[in-house]
Amino acid sequence: MEYHIPALLSETIDGLNIKSSGVYVDVTFGGGGHSNATLKKLKKGYLLGFDQDEDAEKNAPDDERFIFVRNNYRFIKNYVRYCNFDKVDGILADLGVSFHHFDTADRGFSFRFNEKLDMRMDKDAELTAQEIVNSYTREKLIDLFYQYGEINNAKYLTEKIIYTRTSSKIVTCDDLRTVAMACLPNNVQEKKYLAQIFQALRIEVNDEIRVLKELLRNSLDLLNPGGRLVIITYHSLEDRLVKQFMKTGDFTNEIEKDFFGNSKSPFKLINKKVIVPSEEEIAINPRSRSAKLRIAEKI
Ligand SMILES: C[S@@+](CC[C@H](N)C(=O)[O-])C[C@H]1O[C@@H](n2cnc3c(N)ncnc32)[C@H](O)[C@@H]1O
Repeated sequence: MEYHIPALLSETIDGLNIKSSGVYVDVTFGGGGHSNATLKKLKKGYLLGFDQDEDAEKNAPDDERFIFVRNNYRFIKNYVRYCNFDKVDGILADLGVSFHHFDTADRGFSFRFNEKLDMRMDKDAELTAQEIVNSYTREKLIDLFYQYGEINNAKYLTEKIIYTRTSSKIVTCDDLRTVAMACLPNNVQEKKYLAQIFQALRIEVNDEIRVLKELLRNSLDLLNPGGRLVIITYHSLEDRLVKQFMKTGDFTNEIEKDFFGNSKSPFKLINKKVIVPSEEEIAINPRSRSAKLRIAEKI
């Protein structure tokens, strides 16, 4: 079974604009597809690869220019300093989960398998999807289904979950599927609805929005002038954050202007229009379908 097939590979590597002796960070190493292609372009430089999933470590290349960090990329600043690099020339993030997560039944990420609801990328983390559905308050559940899953009937779904869990705990992916199917809106496909619900829980389990915001803020301190920030997202909430941040240097839509009315954004946008996979790429790798690539250069 393939660990992962990297999306938008050549576009991403071009976006990093790799200098042969630069220092780069791939914060989502996974199967190492993007990292290996980065290493091919480096001569004397270095690449740090982060992954919070211990399973990814076995994909780490045996290469003296590569340093694998088995940790959350929210600690990027600490590790860059620990490795004695003051600044870096590029940061790459290919967000979300790998094929390995979706295709390994007992990781509890997929509604295709009847396993315990889990969804932790870091197996040592405490919070699981099971814990969330059985213990979160009504307000918190509605909020996460609405915000992270863009589920229109989040309230109804939450009521069903709360009703179900008062008599018996929701333990497996099938338990949740049964509750979800009782709430399926007429105009929504079963698979799409389940994918939205599972996505919302996964984002909450792994605190994905907060860590992405931390990464974006850290990139301001870490990137050398001319350094590239290259991010692939897979859902609209993440893409909106990345787009706003690259445009303004924070999470508002307002670009600070100087006395003369010139924009004070810390980034220059390399692609004004978002880059998406070609029809050919989607035919070969259908899971790349929702990938969106944005590239910005630190001024
Ligand atoms: C979409 S995959 C990346 C695949 C990779 N680009 C490749 O070519 O194989 C995302 C990977 O990032 C890891 N990951 C996601 N969020 C993370 C975080 N906050 N810290 C560290 N690793 C993370 C996941 O465990 C997963 O292996």
